[in-house]
Amino acid sequence: MNDDTLPTLPSGFRLGVATSAAQIEGGARQDGKGLSIWDAFCATPGKIKDGSDIDVACDHVHRYAEDVERMQWLGVDAYRFSFAWPRLQPEGRGAWNEAGFDFYDRLLDKLHAAGISPHATLHHWDLPQALQESVGGWQSRETALRFADYAAEVARRFGDRLVAIATLNEPWCISTLGYERGQFAPGVRDRAAAMQVSHHLLLGHGLALRAMRAVGSKAQLGIVLNHTPAFPAEKTPADQQAARIVDGLDVRWYMDPLFRGAYPADAVAHLGADAPRPEAGDFEIIREPMDFLGINFYTRHFVSTRTPPLPAPGAKGFSDMGWENYPLALTQHLVRLTRDYMPPPMLITENGMANADALVDGRVDDQARVAYLRDHLAAVAKAIELGVDVRGYFYWSLLDNFEWDSGYAKRFGMFHVDYATQVRTPKASAHWYRDFIARHRAGR
Ligand code: FCB
Repeated sequence: MNDDTLPTLPSGFRLGVATSAAQIEGGARQDGKGLSIWDAFCATPGKIKDGSDIDVACDHVHRYAEDVERMQWLGVDAYRFSFAWPRLQPEGRGAWNEAGFDFYDRLLDKLHAAGISPHATLHHWDLPQALQESVGGWQSRETALRFADYAAEVARRFGDRLVAIATLNEPWCISTLGYERGQFAPGVRDRAAAMQVSHHLLLGHGLALRAMRAVGSKAQLGIVLNHTPAFPAEKTPADQQAARIVDGLDVRWYMDPLFRGAYPADAVAHLGADAPRPEAGDFEIIREPMDFLGINFYTRHFVSTRTPPLPAPGAKGFSDMGWENYPLALTQHLVRLTRDYMPPPMLITENGMANADALVDGRVDDQARVAYLRDHLAAVAKAIELGVDVRGYFYWSLLDNFEWDSGYAKRFGMFHVDYATQVRTPKASAHWYRDFIARHRAGR
């Protein structure tokens, strides 16, 4: 490690890794777990590019103990994971599944023994399929109420053992990719429905915060948003206006109601008849104060109105997802959020890159990921220097895993997974992160 090029983060800054239930757990039909909309989506031909499913995934339900040992080897302070709602409440309402609570109980014990702080997410997209079938999932206001019941039960049982609880992961992806573009489960293509879904998600978030506080949860409470800052490709009025709309529907669509109690007027006007229909009092619930704000950052939008659109310059390269590597946007965006919203302390709850990693002689030399990681940690350090309150960073992901509609073809992990044998191998980036964490801990 060349010390001159390494970012320095404040002491106490948390370094971690992230995963989510549907992407790693497997055990999809085991110990009383109900099916989720992602189990159903995988079973629908043509939805997952490599035709795979999540019945086994990384088999984490059986290998969680060794996976926690990998985190210990890395030296992380914190681990962000999600609870699978249908593992805890198979129908999304009514009876609880004790075998599901037992699994997370064992995971939390293991993390505690390893001295790793658990940061949980309640809903990382795997909605109980029963709620989809009975009420249309997030298209129904009813799902927001059921989500609050589920949140209260998790907080009641685990609230004193979790450092932080995020209600939702990336509501934009659920609404826009799941209900407008049909790319993600449940595969609906209807913009008006998607915008109503976004409203129910926000409402569910606010109701869940209130429900968790009502049961006396001690964990810090917040939400996780995916932000892809929009840049006009050229300084033309058309590109600037297009970038503004992208920003309105992506960043401000969630930030404004959470922190200002209203949807952004320009985005509402743009949506016209497809804008959602809030009920009286909804925004009071949605703007319930939070203890932290989680930001997932991967890339930026390069918005061009030309035909064909101008491509992003990609000076620092593109990931295997085709996403431009543009770390400067992370610094700028954190500064902008602070200026525009005065949010509570922020966490970078996800950041990472997919790389076409291959094992060669038992090693994966993912130098592109090492550079990505170093540059994004430097971007966070720069934001902190500029006065932004960021308290932690979670690399996405600990393991290669199920990358939604891409199946297992895209590898984001610091550990390579051979899916035939479930053998995990630390990549060069894992060794780099381990050294970086040790250096950070030693205050160098
Ligand atoms: C985010 C998701 C996460 C993972 C990364 C690559 O949008 O939250 O589950 O798939 O992208």
